[in-house]
Amino acid sequence: MTERVLTGITTTGTPHLGNYVGAIRPAIAASREDGVESFFFLADYHALIKCADPERIARSRLEIAASWLAAGLDTARVTFYRQSDIPETTELNWLLTCVTAKGQMNRAHAYKAAVDANGEASDDPDAGITMGLYCYPILMAADILLFNAHRVPVGRDQVQHIEMARDVAQRFNHSFGQGRDLFVLPQAEIEASVATLPGLDGRKMSKSYDNTVPLFEGGPKALKDAVARIVTDSRLPGEPKDPDSAHLVTLHDAFADEATRLAFHADLRSGLGWGDAKQRVVQLIEAHVGPMREQYVQLMAHPEQIEDILQAGAQKARVAVAPFMAELRHAVGLRRMVAVPQAKAAKVHATKSDAPVFKQYRESDGQFYFKLNAVDGTLLLQSQAFADGREAGAWVKRFKQEGASALLDAPVALAEGVDRAVLEAALADLLAAQA
Ligand code: TRP
Repeated sequence: MTERVLTGITTTGTPHLGNYVGAIRPAIAASREDGVESFFFLADYHALIKCADPERIARSRLEIAASWLAAGLDTARVTFYRQSDIPETTELNWLLTCVTAKGQMNRAHAYKAAVDANGEASDDPDAGITMGLYCYPILMAADILLFNAHRVPVGRDQVQHIEMARDVAQRFNHSFGQGRDLFVLPQAEIEASVATLPGLDGRKMSKSYDNTVPLFEGGPKALKDAVARIVTDSRLPGEPKDPDSAHLVTLHDAFADEATRLAFHADLRSGLGWGDAKQRVVQLIEAHVGPMREQYVQLMAHPEQIEDILQAGAQKARVAVAPFMAELRHAVGLRRMVAVPQAKAAKVHATKSDAPVFKQYRESDGQFYFKLNAVDGTLLLQSQAFADGREAGAWVKRFKQEGASALLDAPVALAEGVDRAVLEAALADLLAAQA
């Protein structure tokens, strides 16, 4: 089975090295593995929680999209989109909100930090806290669960959010799955070696601490200037230095191979000056980032190309989630209203006789096929030809188990003149009939 990897990046500020090392680089590497299907998106709804400056939001979306593309994201392999282009996200957000315990949101780190800050300022505990901030983890759960992602590469600070997503998924499965798991439980994935990059002052590199090293913006000069501002101890050139207690070294190591790393540590122990050390760090990072930056500048000069790429990505993403969303809607009881005879209406579940039917058959060409007929006999779905009848059988079984979700990768075509929503409703009826 292919594993789905998904990650989002909040579009505030300008991408910095911390974003690159903690999110972009590991996610792109993961997308190149065999047997994975990747979904990367710009979390621009999340950005609205933190920023009420439209110009900054727009600029940041563009810069971050260009950064991911310049960093080597292959949009033929990866579904790359903007969160706000996927209305199913906000729809699922609400379904999840309705099963999320308020007490659990009270415990979210970001919210608690805001309350604590108010306490320290002797302010009202809720001062300046929006419902957006409070419900932030639910929207994030929707991002993840909508795609049934197995793995979510994130920074360490986001692990609690993934745990919350698992929790919400479990609760939803329990309430509405009728014994089946509607949602996959996602797993947080942290790059073990350098999960969080330190910033100029040694705290986590973060836009909120204003201690970042820019990834591309400002060119090589901005990189050099930022590294020059990294805080070190006051040991002079010639004095031995402890590589393990210097965050400059952590930054270095995030870009160095094993040999370069060891050499740098050894040189510091034997007295390399901080000035020279910083120069080496700049050179190392520039060698890595420079070629990508050229690509970035090129893309920033053509926003319309980025727009096209994101539009195509959104379309791909929506095709992937539409059947699942239909199933979820059905699961919570938001169903198509259909006229049913009185006697039937009294029954809790649909029965076999009012459910659509799969038929497997062999044609004169010797090949095997299956199709789905509606209750009234209308053809809804037609499979391709299979040389082996068992393969056709396996697909039918999957449709019976998974409903519309199986449409994602099944070799089938919608029958002519049939609306996709009608097909999805029929598959949902089929599931209900078996329940
Ligand atoms: N909250 C994440 C961050 O600030 C961004 C994000 C939003 C995200 N939705 C997500 C990450 C879903 C992973 C999966 O880094």
